[in-house]
Amino acid sequence: MTTALSGRIAVVTGASAGIGLAIAQELAAQGARVVINARRAEVLKQVADDINAKSSEHRKADDRQLGEGPVCVPVAGDCSEQGVIDQLLNTAKRSFGAEADLVVVNAGRGLSGSVLTSDTTQWDEMVRTNILGAAAMMRSAARRLTSLVPEGETGQSGAWLKRAGRDMIVIGSVVGRNVSPYSSMYGGTKFAVHGMVEGVRRELAPKGVRVSLVEPGFVISEFQGVAGYDPAWFKGVMEKIGPALDPADIARAIAFVASQPAHVHIADILLRPTRQEYP
Ligand SMILES: NC(=O)c1ccc[n+]([C@@H]2O[C@H](COP(=O)([O-])OP(=O)(O)OC[C@H]3O[C@@H](n4cnc5c(N)ncnc54)[C@H](OP(=O)(O)O)[C@@H]3O)[C@@H](O)[C@H]2O)c1
Repeated sequence: MTTALSGRIAVVTGASAGIGLAIAQELAAQGARVVINARRAEVLKQVADDINAKSSEHRKADDRQLGEGPVCVPVAGDCSEQGVIDQLLNTAKRSFGAEADLVVVNAGRGLSGSVLTSDTTQWDEMVRTNILGAAAMMRSAARRLTSLVPEGETGQSGAWLKRAGRDMIVIGSVVGRNVSPYSSMYGGTKFAVHGMVEGVRRELAPKGVRVSLVEPGFVISEFQGVAGYDPAWFKGVMEKIGPALDPADIARAIAFVASQPAHVHIADILLRPTRQEYP
């Protein structure tokens, strides 16, 4: 049986929890092989083990051509470091025999409060992960993704159209599109991400590489704890706009974007819980 992402090689950052974990699971379930990353090595290894156990059940149940060996390989480390980024992309090539053709730039963190009220001791880490790390990953991924099709071979016709698309998918946020004064420091990092994504999209589109932005609203994950949300405040928000999204809701959208034919680009998806009016 062929599934939507059979043959694709993916890299997903921030995959030990929340949205990245759901993306890794969904991509593997749809037939992709996946290199996953996060800083907590033990948690990440467990995620990879679970995905590999599930895929070997599938192998027994059907004739999917996944070949031998694991479908999911963990690479632990801080993905805002260039050495870790290189390791991730090199691992995809070494483990699965070709450059990754689907790179999901997901790792990031929130921060409760605004420019005026948020904890300044958290600013460095957030800016490094959300902006500088994402930029470094996009830059390295761009080089690899463009190398998959020789220069000059992405015209109106050609073999590239018969192959799967090459994708860079970046997680932004609704607060990277709408200013929310209550989360303006975190939102500011996502405004930067949105600007970078659109710039890189314009640079890579002529080369046949799809650069897509996914903008979630409220998603229940470890995000709220890491950001330091007041649980009573968050409970009130959920009463008003809930149920919130589940990480799997975002993962399905990403698999949909990546599984389009090579000439179709869904460049931007904004997902909110149905009752979330704003931001
Ligand atoms: N949840 C929401 O409501 C929401 C809404 C809009 C956008 N987003 C965005 O969605 C993305 C994922 O968030 P989430 O909700 O899934 O949060 P989460 O549950 O806290 O997961 C974040 C993931 O990123 C990893 N991570 C954080 N910093 C990292 C670093 N420097 N290097 C490598 N891995 C790192 C974490 O693992 P380790 O701690 O093990 O490193 C974890 O696996 C983020 O970019 C976030 O800004 C979230």
